[in-house]
Amino acid sequence: MAARSELVGIAEVAEMAKVSKQAVSNWRLRYDDFPKPLQQLQSGPVWNREAVEAWVKVFKGEETHILSFINLKGGVGKTTTAVAVAEMLAQEERKHVLLIDLDPQTNATVTLISEEQWAEMDKDGRTVAQLFEDRLNPHTASKFDIEKAIAHRVSRINDGIARLDLLPSSIRLIEMQDRIPMIAMAGNFTASPLDILRNALLPIMDRYDYIIIDCPPSLGTVTKNGLRISTGYIIPTIPDIVSTWGIYQIVDNVARFARDIGRPIPSLGIVATKVQSNNLHRRVIADLQDGRLGRFSEGNDVTQPALFANTIPQAVDVARGADVDADIRTFKGKYGAAYSALHGLTREIRQLCEKKKS
Ligand SMILES: Nc1ncnc2c1ncn2[C@@H]1O[C@H](COP(=O)(O)OP(=O)(O)OP(=O)(O)O)[C@@H](O)[C@H]1O
Ligand SMILES: [Mg+2]
Repeated sequence: MAARSELVGIAEVAEMAKVSKQAVSNWRLRYDDFPKPLQQLQSGPVWNREAVEAWVKVFKGEETHILSFINLKGGVGKTTTAVAVAEMLAQEERKHVLLIDLDPQTNATVTLISEEQWAEMDKDGRTVAQLFEDRLNPHTASKFDIEKAIAHRVSRINDGIARLDLLPSSIRLIEMQDRIPMIAMAGNFTASPLDILRNALLPIMDRYDYIIIDCPPSLGTVTKNGLRISTGYIIPTIPDIVSTWGIYQIVDNVARFARDIGRPIPSLGIVATKVQSNNLHRRVIADLQDGRLGRFSEGNDVTQPALFANTIPQAVDVARGADVDADIRTFKGKYGAAYSALHGLTREIRQLCEKKKS
C-alpha cells in the first residue's frame, strides 16, 4: 500500500511545513522519529507524504489525536472507557471531541443520544452504516453526508456536552460487514475499502482536538477503517486470562497494518477495566505492570504496551449510567466509584498525546 502513496522530496516537505529546506534537514538530524525516506533518489531522498504530514502536525502541536479503543474480546469495557474518555476530554479538559461508533451493536451511540434521535438519524442515513452502504451500491446516488451525520452536543451529562460530537453507528452495519472487504472489486472504485472512513472524514478532521473510535470486538475491515486514520490505539481489558489472551495478536496485527500503510500506529497503553480485588486480577495487573503478559514474555520482538497507572474498578453505577434515559447528569452519578480513575486515565491519555517535542 505504501507504494501507492504520494511521494514527496525535501523541497515539498519544506513547503508543506512552511519552513526552509535547511530546517527540514535539521529535523532529520535532530529527531530520531522523523520518518525514514522510502528511497534515496539521485535528486535526494523521498518520503511518504502522509507520514511526513503526520510528523509535522505533531511537531507543530496541530495534530488531531485519533485514538481507537480495541480488544478482540467482547464485554471488556471498550465502549464504557471510550465514551467516558470522550466525555471527560470535552467537558473537563475543554477539548473538541468527536466520538465515532464503529460497532453495529450501537452501544456508544445509545449511551450518548436517545433511541428516538438514533432511530430518526438511522432512517435518514445519518450513520456510518450509510457511508459503507453507499460504497456497496456504487450505481445508486450517495446518501451519506458527513455534516448531517454528526450529532452535536451529545451525552446526558449537563444536558449535552458543548464540545462533544457523535458519528453514530447502526445495526444495519451487521449485514454489510462481510461484503465490505469486497468493495474495491465490486464497484468502480479505485479507493481501497480501508479508506472509506478516512475519505469521509478528511474534510472535517481538523475541527477536532481528539477523535475517539469505539471499535467492534474484531480486527475486520470496519475496525481497520478506524485504525487507518488512528494516531494511536488503546487496549481496554479485564485483567483476567481470557480477556488478555488476544492482546499479543492485536499488537502484532496493528504493527503489520501500520507497516502496510507506511506510518506508525503506536499503542498508548493497556487499561485494566472492571477491576475487582481478587488474586487473579492482582496477579494479571502485576504481570501487565512488569510488561511480561503471556506471549510477550516469550522472547519475541513484540513489546507489551505499558499499563496505564489508573485502573478502572468494577462499579455498580457504571451499567446503570450507560442508559441515556436514566436521569443522570453528572459524571459522579454516571460513573460512581469509577469516576476518579476514569478522569485520571483521561489525563494520562492527554499527557501522552500532547507531549511536545523539545
Ligand atoms: N468499570 C465498570 N464497572 C461495572 N460495569 C462495567 C464497567 N465497565 C463496563 N461495565 C459494564 O460491562 C458491560 C460491558 O462493557 P462495555 O459495553 O463497555 O464493553 P465492550 O468491550 O465495549 O463490549 P463489546 O465488545 O460488546 O462492545 C456493560 O454492561 C457495562 O456497563
Ligand atoms: Mg462495545
